[in-house]
Amino acid sequence: MNADAEPSSKDEASGNYGDFDFIVVSNRLPVDRISGADGDTWRRSPGGLVTALAPVMGKADGAWVGWPGSPDEELEPFDHDNMHLKPVPLSTDEVELYYEGFSNTTLWPLYHDVIATPEFHRTWWDAYRTVNRRFADAAASVAAKGATVWVQDYQLQLVPQLLRQARPDLKIGFFNHIPFPPLEIFAQLPWRRNIIEGLLGADLIGFQRPSDASNFLRCVRRFAGYTIRQQQVNVTTEDGLSYVSRAEAFPISIDAAQIAELAQREDVIERSKQIRRELGNPDTVLLGVDRLDYTKGISHRLKAYGELLEDGRITVENAAMIQVASPSRERVEQYRLLREEVEGTVGRISGTYDTISNTALRYLHHSYPVEEMVALYLAADVMLVTALRDGMNLVAKEYVAARTGNTGTLVLSEFTGAADQLRQAVLVNPHDIDGLKAAILTAINMPAREASRRMRLMRRQVLQNDVERWSRNFLEALDQDQDRDQSQNQDPDREREQ
Ligand code: G6P
Repeated sequence: MNADAEPSSKDEASGNYGDFDFIVVSNRLPVDRISGADGDTWRRSPGGLVTALAPVMGKADGAWVGWPGSPDEELEPFDHDNMHLKPVPLSTDEVELYYEGFSNTTLWPLYHDVIATPEFHRTWWDAYRTVNRRFADAAASVAAKGATVWVQDYQLQLVPQLLRQARPDLKIGFFNHIPFPPLEIFAQLPWRRNIIEGLLGADLIGFQRPSDASNFLRCVRRFAGYTIRQQQVNVTTEDGLSYVSRAEAFPISIDAAQIAELAQREDVIERSKQIRRELGNPDTVLLGVDRLDYTKGISHRLKAYGELLEDGRITVENAAMIQVASPSRERVEQYRLLREEVEGTVGRISGTYDTISNTALRYLHHSYPVEEMVALYLAADVMLVTALRDGMNLVAKEYVAARTGNTGTLVLSEFTGAADQLRQAVLVNPHDIDGLKAAILTAINMPAREASRRMRLMRRQVLQNDVERWSRNFLEALDQDQDRDQSQNQDPDREREQ
């Protein structure tokens, strides 16, 4: 074939470029549907990522590519809140195989220390590949020449490579919001090499913790045979592309100013007092806030709390615990089993220790608006974050941001990304139930001065390192990577181990 006569389909002359300079790709679109009598409207979903990226989108002519959240729905692209939204449809089967299956029954448990047993099914993998290709095609169709595309999270790990193949002109970033497992665990995945090569399509691959980045780089060496130099990989592809891909930690955060502002609002403060009153004004309110997920260590926390009640170290007259467990992935078997287990334990604790006038444990299987969450944070003397493994844990950071008076104590699992930054928390190994009980008592009885010293330091950390700074750091590093890449493109020193 005459190469001259056959311009690439993505050649400028073909006019196949989209209109947007900055594209975010994530499994879910950053909007929630509100169904009303006159049809559906959309509301921006709560959460730090969209808050951080919406202003960048507005400035940079941005688009967001993602699934609108229900199966079998073909939606036209639409604009919302300064963002252009490009919906990617998923069929009922794909929701089952790609989302509930490969993403949440293979990758999720595999990447979280195999707390639950991952299942490996070839049909799930096939659907994962098909859907990742659809996301990549959607992103390529809206991306202008030389645009920046930022792909988010474990559901879309093949998108960087697919995009790179279709559109080598793009600057591609990837951020993994969950942990990246140690090589010995990742090795179980039958498609380990495909995933590594998928991710290496990105110029910059961001992780929550340095240990996630180094786990990934070990897997790159072992399963894709590359040499690593200073966290960088000189990638060469079968279709003759060569570029540098780099892995680094960028710990994500929250919109700390928004939380702190809400925590000072009269109505939110009043609501927090009301919450305490309605619990019978105990001396200590303890709080847990999680998606109902087996990684969160909810059972371990309840076990420790139940034993403290049983030992008489805590009594229902002087303490009450609130556990918010927001519904999540309810069609996945492991999540159904967890709900049964947690609700069984809750029933036992409440049945044993509640009195007519006092509650030992208030369990709430709901999601709440951010105002109510902040009121809960303000009402809680002790926040319990006991995850068995968590990429970051933003609840811990939200609690800290909300404590504008520098009161309150945070019990925080060592196995969260947040524990790298919130060093003044009472750090625990949640598997050690006696240690966890001791940590809860330490938190309850911590002298006010000591609690305030710790909270002040943690607040400084969270307020300075907010989600806006996180996205800026990542995007600046991605920019620098491309500059360096261009200058290294003349560098003949590229090698691949055999
Ligand atoms: C975690 C993941 C996100 C995911 C969220 C909610 O935070 O990192 O990618 O969106 O959980 O889970 P869901 O399955 O409902 O999207």
